[in-house]
Amino acid sequence: MTKQADVERLYVKSDTLTTRMDFHAKYSVNKYGFGNWTFDQYNFKDGMRILELGCGTAKIWNNRDERLPKDAEIILSDFSPLMVNKARELMQDNPTFSFRQINIEEIPYGDDSFDMVIANHVFHHVQDKSKALSEIRRVLMPDGRFYSTTMGKDTLKELTDIFHKLENKASFARPIDMPYTLEKGADLLQKYFSNIEQRQYMDALEVTSADDLVEYVTSYNEISDAVICELRQLINEGFVNDVFKIQKTQGIFICVK
Ligand SMILES: C[S@@+](CC[C@H](N)C(=O)[O-])C[C@H]1O[C@@H](n2cnc3c(N)ncnc32)[C@H](O)[C@@H]1O
Repeated sequence: MTKQADVERLYVKSDTLTTRMDFHAKYSVNKYGFGNWTFDQYNFKDGMRILELGCGTAKIWNNRDERLPKDAEIILSDFSPLMVNKARELMQDNPTFSFRQINIEEIPYGDDSFDMVIANHVFHHVQDKSKALSEIRRVLMPDGRFYSTTMGKDTLKELTDIFHKLENKASFARPIDMPYTLEKGADLLQKYFSNIEQRQYMDALEVTSADDLVEYVTSYNEISDAVICELRQLINEGFVNDVFKIQKTQGIFICVK
């Protein structure tokens, strides 16, 4: 799990998320795009009430007006005011959307309020996962659905291997033992939901610029200039035929209350 101070540095003090999203868009082998694929998994019905927790920049909703359910209400939320503002800037012209600062561990809505709750790539940051999942279950209507994307355990393994080599010299925000992966997530979810389905999206990164990779790593880790030199050297050693290959599997859990 990411330390709370790291979560705040990554999402509250500045928007490092956009750097990482741009990097993934540039170097992912599967060009369909994880955001496009994730959106395809949502089973919308007209008139739905939808709550997204940890919405980040809300890019997944952009330019999709014709695919949204009719007469729906969609609340985009994040615990970071900076991210809520980013989401608002992007989506405020569409009256279907409203925006709110919410910590996933304390959801300020009554029982049985939503047909659908979404929390994509959020749970590895959450300090009290049991509290968050109880809250999500509570606000879902009977038969409501919870959608939650995450990563496979070997995702970014090649970078994690480098982090291990530098472990005592820098503070890495990316947890080395991910608590909520495609492999382990269902064990946690089954305590709160009756039916859990998992779907996977196969991908990989093929990076052709060491500078971009250094920028990506330093966007979420606090590393001194001296250690960045060592990092750069380890990254350079990982290039084969001018490509640094990185494993990446992502997916979604679709859970029924
Ligand atoms: C990796 S980003 C994912 C953003 C977006 N869901 C996406 O898939 O692009 C994680 C997001 O979770 C938010 N977050 C972290 N901890 C949270 C918490 N306890 N409650 C609500 N949001 C949280 C962060 O501010 C950040 O926007």
